[in-house]
Amino acid sequence: MSTRENWGSRFGFIMAAAGSAIGLGNIWRFPYMTGSNGGGAFLLIYLGIVIGFGLSLLMAEMVLGRTTQKNPVGAFRALGGGAWPAVGYLGVLTGFVILSFYIVVAGWTLAYIAHMATGALSAPGLDYGKIFGDFVASPVEPVVYAGVFMALTCWIVVGGISKGIERWNKVLMPALFVILLILVARALTLPGAAKGVAFYLVPDFSKVTAQTFYDAISQAFFSLSIGMGTMLTYGSYLSKDENLPSATLTVALLDTAAAFLAGLMIIPAVFAFGLNPSAGPGLTFITLPAVFAAMPLGAPFGVLFFALLAIAALTSAISILEPMIAYLVDEHSLPRRGMTIVASVVCFALGIPASLSFGAWSGFTVGGKTWFDLMDFMANNLMLPVGGLCTALFIGWFWSREARHHLSNEGRLAQPWAPLWTFVLRFVAPLGILWIMLAAFLKD
Ligand code: TRP
Repeated sequence: MSTRENWGSRFGFIMAAAGSAIGLGNIWRFPYMTGSNGGGAFLLIYLGIVIGFGLSLLMAEMVLGRTTQKNPVGAFRALGGGAWPAVGYLGVLTGFVILSFYIVVAGWTLAYIAHMATGALSAPGLDYGKIFGDFVASPVEPVVYAGVFMALTCWIVVGGISKGIERWNKVLMPALFVILLILVARALTLPGAAKGVAFYLVPDFSKVTAQTFYDAISQAFFSLSIGMGTMLTYGSYLSKDENLPSATLTVALLDTAAAFLAGLMIIPAVFAFGLNPSAGPGLTFITLPAVFAAMPLGAPFGVLFFALLAIAALTSAISILEPMIAYLVDEHSLPRRGMTIVASVVCFALGIPASLSFGAWSGFTVGGKTWFDLMDFMANNLMLPVGGLCTALFIGWFWSREARHHLSNEGRLAQPWAPLWTFVLRFVAPLGILWIMLAAFLKD
């Protein structure tokens, strides 16, 4: 335990935390959620939720980690005792569940880089829906790509905190923002993009239903990486002198900026080619290849776009893997390298049925859900909300004075907003989260 690593710099920590937050959630999920939820109205509601309680929960996790310098299980054991470590165990388990389907979608992005680069996706008159459907249904190729992606993730995490996770995030995250800005500029200069910009920025509240709020809340959780101890674990490698509230705010701003820019890239491009923004999860893999095929220099832009997705996914997958490794290393003194390899193999094994559920195993369902949908549902609608709820309740009701003390670096930082933070953790976040869960169950 005495050899526990730390981040090398404040910049490194911010890049790593932003790398965790900015992922498939921002670039794949956010634009299609916005596209199918009436554009600007969804954007506004999402922003309200991030400010209203997402930010508070993010800070709650970070302060738990930084104070204890422990993994999720160890942190709850040290501060709460009793049954509280269960929240940490839930987080460790959630990591396996999320990774098992995350690596499948991440594998698709690797495959699409390859298919874009070879020109296989830019011949005229292709049916992109069928191409995507056939690809995800095939028994071997997507599984291999998921395995390659898992291996990359494992390799970076084996390297440790400053020499693995931090080093890669410091390179990949600036690259991600550069690519994102290039693609936004390309999208906005397409003839006809203005209609898309209007759809994205001018809210149409007639499309808003309870479901819109529910989607925005689960999107905020997933995008900010809260509810399973990822940000707790990242916070645990941070020095006690850093200004945590300001770092938290920076991470939330970067995450929100990335989601906003991803929408500003994808939605206008889709409109410029007269396509439909409400295609759902297929928007990135079906609608966008059609956009690239119709655009001058579409293939290189397409490669760049799927590289952007792959980078975003990689820096997030690392952060989903790290909490379970931190747990095994801290609590059981197991070797980091070996444990990372074992955990990766387990996640890959769980990813195989997730991938096959688009093809050979699509008939195997539980309650009408394939394995992929089941994992996605359990993580997003059950495990993350429960984890977030317990974290909010723990800090709000049992540990609020100490939390504020630690957050202010033992009283050295002024925090006029602290009472508001406690109020959000006590009431706003728990009630908001209970509402998501009820909405989820009433719907299904
Ligand atoms: N935030 C990432 C995304 O937007 C996914 C992610 C990484 C995550 N770590 C997490 C989600 C922890 C929930 C919990 O794609």
